[in-house]
Amino acid sequence: MKEQPDAAKEEMEDETLDPDDWERTRVLGHRILDDMIDYMKTLRDRPAWQHAPNDVKKHFTGAAPSAPQQPEAIYQEYVKYVLPYQIGNNHPRFWGWVAGTGTTMCMFAEMLAAATDAVSGSFSYYSNNYVEMQVLDWCKSMLGYPPAASGLLTSGCSASNLIGLAVARNAKAGFDLRSKGMWAAPRRFTVYCSEEAHSSIQKAVELLGFGSEALHRIPANASMQIDLPALREAIKADRKDGLFPICAVGVAGTTNTGAIDDLEALADICEDEGLWLHVDGAFGAWAAIAPRSRHLVTGMQRADSLAFDLHKWMYLSYPIGCVLIRDPEAHRRAFSLTPTYLSHGEGQRGLTGIDVPWISDLGYELSRGFQALKAWMTIKEQGIEKYGRLIQQNIDQAHYLAGLIDAHPNLQLALPVSLNVVCFRYIRPGLDDVTLDRLNKQIEVELQERGIAVPSTVSINGRKYLHVAITNHRSRRVDFDVLVHEVAQIGGELA
Ligand SMILES: Cc1ncc(COP(=O)(O)O)c(C=O)c1O
Repeated sequence: MKEQPDAAKEEMEDETLDPDDWERTRVLGHRILDDMIDYMKTLRDRPAWQHAPNDVKKHFTGAAPSAPQQPEAIYQEYVKYVLPYQIGNNHPRFWGWVAGTGTTMCMFAEMLAAATDAVSGSFSYYSNNYVEMQVLDWCKSMLGYPPAASGLLTSGCSASNLIGLAVARNAKAGFDLRSKGMWAAPRRFTVYCSEEAHSSIQKAVELLGFGSEALHRIPANASMQIDLPALREAIKADRKDGLFPICAVGVAGTTNTGAIDDLEALADICEDEGLWLHVDGAFGAWAAIAPRSRHLVTGMQRADSLAFDLHKWMYLSYPIGCVLIRDPEAHRRAFSLTPTYLSHGEGQRGLTGIDVPWISDLGYELSRGFQALKAWMTIKEQGIEKYGRLIQQNIDQAHYLAGLIDAHPNLQLALPVSLNVVCFRYIRPGLDDVTLDRLNKQIEVELQERGIAVPSTVSINGRKYLHVAITNHRSRRVDFDVLVHEVAQIGGELA
């Protein structure tokens, strides 16, 4: 064989992204892990939120580097420019919107999943799928859903709502909707939910080709639940007008107030009317495991599809949601599509066998990460009894906060607490509603900018209220004492 010239030899040397110096990588890895454990241990000592200054925003401009940078320097850049400027949802006094708080075991699980570049949900005879199926079984059992139901883990409840409504649409269409499309519908489909249902329901309805006009929003009653007589009337009137009612969406825990629709009665209506019942239980579904509150979601187990998150009230790190579908065949029919390069089930051996359902047959994604691992490890670490106690603790904290507000002359509840969400506002004699709206928005912003706490604001019956959604395993009662004191203090300063 001919000797290669040196330059050509060099050119042929193969490259990799693995480190040149594994010991140096080990030192950095240990350091990062130590820093992050310290970070999580000391969350309470930091501000609930910090405004990212302009120089931080400016830092993230410019082209991708053409040459390598040192890993230690990149980590330092993260520590300086990224780490301090988080939303802050793992802080004990973060209660804005509805957000989860993460666990140390989730951090470990994410690292393990990344180390193996783990995939889950398709292919066969490997452990990740078994973990995912066990997590789904645990969810069904905790929420009282039938064990034979199918389901999948998702990136969150928006995705879960989309998948649930896609199965509902195809199952109820009465023709081969997958091949003919919505064009072929002989009548316009209609879907029902309350005015308080989450925007992801509307997005799903739009994405599925119903058009947002097909989503009939039913008024909420004084408890912010769907008004059931109004729902019955709407279905009747729509049928008379030649429309085709196919699905009603119940909410277990509305984003605004935590209200839970009367799910038992809703299930009865859907049964009478032949409608699919989809329940959006993004966070409220988990009341099912709280020892003194599970009655609040009675009827939820009758849903044809149930969407919920694990990154909110199960406190797992983002992202992880779930959807369960009562009829596994309807679920599979809505999504299964197998090109030759993904054919599976032709033998008992190899990655292309079928030992558990392939997720590519049950959802719109093909490649997925191993989100199940953080659920599996954290639920094992904590046990479901403790989870039940924590969810109950958050509900009890909501009532504790409501008691403090009731007792304060300058604070006013929007309505009685139904779950874990408290909506209230600062009031002062002589200030009109418009001024109070502006003042309460300013109070929200001041609480955030001073790093004291993170509530959000919502509009209820046309007025602005501070919104405290307690899906936080780090909150203590004293944190709510601080909140009430500071709202009153800041309200006084600003007014
Ligand atoms: C009731 C409800 N449904 C759906 C969603 C959407 O969930 P995700 O943000 O996980 O997509 C939310 C989010 O807060 C919610 O509160």
